[in-house]
Amino acid sequence: MRTQVSDLRLREAARADAPDIAEIEKLCFSSPWSLEAILYELDGNESARYIVRAEGRRVVAYAGLRVVLNEGHITNLAVHPDFRGRGIGAAVLKELIERTRRDDGLTDFTLEVRASNAVASRLYASAGFRAEGRRRGYYTEPLEDAIIMWLHTV
Ligand SMILES: CC(C)(COP(=O)(O)OP(=O)(O)OC[C@H]1O[C@@H](n2cnc3c(N)ncnc32)[C@H](O)[C@@H]1OP(=O)(O)O)[C@@H](O)C(=O)NCCC(=O)NCCS
Repeated sequence: MRTQVSDLRLREAARADAPDIAEIEKLCFSSPWSLEAILYELDGNESARYIVRAEGRRVVAYAGLRVVLNEGHITNLAVHPDFRGRGIGAAVLKELIERTRRDDGLTDFTLEVRASNAVASRLYASAGFRAEGRRRGYYTEPLEDAIIMWLHTV
């Protein structure tokens, strides 16, 4: 049986977290966000919201979105490979959704996921997201469709 994380250590991301996030991006994605792009999200983009899960000073997971009126457009979710399968991804996503519902009044959340990414799709389905569309050829390296998922909270 998988153990649940008891001490979540979830908090808002700070500028100092950018290098750890950039490192995890490189480990997880074929087209990772650059350090500069992440710094902009954390420090310059007023519509961006990020939650991290810290292990001491080190960030091991993060989730981010952009606020568009009452919608949260989820841009990133990743867990360092050494920390997967412990409920951290689900916890970071849940915290991001709960905080932005409370603080920004968000009611609807959307994201794109690679059609072949069964692990992430299951995580999103467990969080209440449902597939509502498809963007053909949305991803490169390799070329692949995106499934568009939505969570409606009201
Ligand atoms: C997707 C990802 C964030 C999941 O993080 P995680 O911390 O390992 O996930 P959790 O332990 O919180 O698991 C949550 C749910 O995901 C699914 N899941 C997680 N690991 C799985 C696995 N190895 N096989 C199948 N489903 C899995 C399950 O539905 C699980 O719920 P359950 O425990 O009730 O069965 C992580 O694998 C990751 O960073 N992947 C690379 C980046 C990525 O694909 N991001 C999403 C982009 S859209």
